[in-house]
Amino acid sequence: MPHLRPFVSAVVRPIPITTREERIAELDRAGHNPFNIRGDKVSIDLLSDSGTGAVSTDQQAWAQRADERYAGADSWFRFRDAVRDLVPHEHVLPVHQGRAAERVLFGELLEPGSISLSNMHFDTTRANVERIGAEARDLPSPQLFDLTSDAPFKGDIDVDAARAVLNGPDGHRVGQIVVTITNNGGGGQPVSMANLAEISAVAREHRVPLVLDAARFAENAWLVTQRDPEYADWSPREVARRVFEFGDAVVASLKKDGLSHEGAFIAVHDPELADRCEVDIIATEGFRTYGGLTGHTLEHLAQGLREVLDPHYLADREHEAKFLADRLHAVGVETLRPTGLHAVYVNATPLVPHLEPKHLPDHAVTCALYREGGIRAAGGGLFLGTFDENNELLTAPPFELVRLALPRRVYDRSHMEYIAEVLAEIAKHPERVPGYRLTHNPEVLRHFRCRTEPIEP
Ligand SMILES: Cc1ncc(COP(=O)(O)O)c(C=O)c1O
Repeated sequence: MPHLRPFVSAVVRPIPITTREERIAELDRAGHNPFNIRGDKVSIDLLSDSGTGAVSTDQQAWAQRADERYAGADSWFRFRDAVRDLVPHEHVLPVHQGRAAERVLFGELLEPGSISLSNMHFDTTRANVERIGAEARDLPSPQLFDLTSDAPFKGDIDVDAARAVLNGPDGHRVGQIVVTITNNGGGGQPVSMANLAEISAVAREHRVPLVLDAARFAENAWLVTQRDPEYADWSPREVARRVFEFGDAVVASLKKDGLSHEGAFIAVHDPELADRCEVDIIATEGFRTYGGLTGHTLEHLAQGLREVLDPHYLADREHEAKFLADRLHAVGVETLRPTGLHAVYVNATPLVPHLEPKHLPDHAVTCALYREGGIRAAGGGLFLGTFDENNELLTAPPFELVRLALPRRVYDRSHMEYIAEVLAEIAKHPERVPGYRLTHNPEVLRHFRCRTEPIEP
């Protein structure tokens, strides 16, 4: 049966249509950093899939029933029950977004000098480890670095490498193991059930807590049902529940698979740990039954968590990403394989072969996408590379990928076709894409705050 999108638009928002001249002026004003570009100058916004999705009519209907009482509101209990339907943890603590969950939980698990191991720390996750004075060490599966292979679970953590650290001289400093599902920094690739079982056994053996960074738990669950024959008969909800059982603790931004614009939770078994987190949350986020969230948002989230594991919705999400990737392949643009769900990652290296790593190829393609088509995306190189005091590239990023993040339930096929057409034009004349250099290089969270300029040929 042909694919049928399982929803229609109920409310629409016009998008800005701009001229090339306007976009060139805006890029200059923004220091050629997509994070500085004004939204009203962006036609297709693929900067992030976080908090950018469309809510459903049922979510809106529930929001009408929001209970905004300060403590013990009905909306809190509906939210808590929706989370508890997924996680086995006794203690569920709400916070306003994922990075707040990281700050609070990591503050309890790490101290200066600790090590955090991960398949890949997401940028804010890394920042929250490093702000404590701890070290964030990424141990991705070696398969991740082969951009062209179709290995199904490239998001895995390298369990042998984790074991080696734990058994080595630094072993006593490891304060937590974080498994990010799906592996956002690693191209949105999923983590397998076998890998989760293995790393959780290693963590238990070494008495180190295993933390799941579960921002895309539903998308990971879907990909497990699609790529692991052992789980082909499981529903995404059954897989998600099984995954959460592996975590001693969970931090989950709900701006992604909560299908909402804000919100996150921490879930833990240990009552003392929960107690310590609760004190921090009351002091910095809000009381333990709202954590900085309105009743309105708690209702969006409760209903979002009911909707997100619907196999029809998840199949559509996969279809949308695959549709875009296929269109790009058809015009000779390479993408990270296999295609995941939350984004399509364009491989900039073959697209602009005249640019060396020091010319920031992924950033150059990102800027070209905006200049030529009003499409906002983000490259990973500015985050993953390192630079010296003169802003020259010191170590090149492992790959030059441009992330085309797909907001949930927002864009349709015509938008995907447009993106492919703009990239096809760029691919036709790659020599017109100039290289870039950093002009302002903040020490932390560089990619959010830096400024760059094109290098005149
Ligand atoms: C894997 C992962 N962890 C944590 C976060 C942080 O979540 P938030 O944006 O809600 O602070 C993100 C956000 O994109 C993410 O992708």
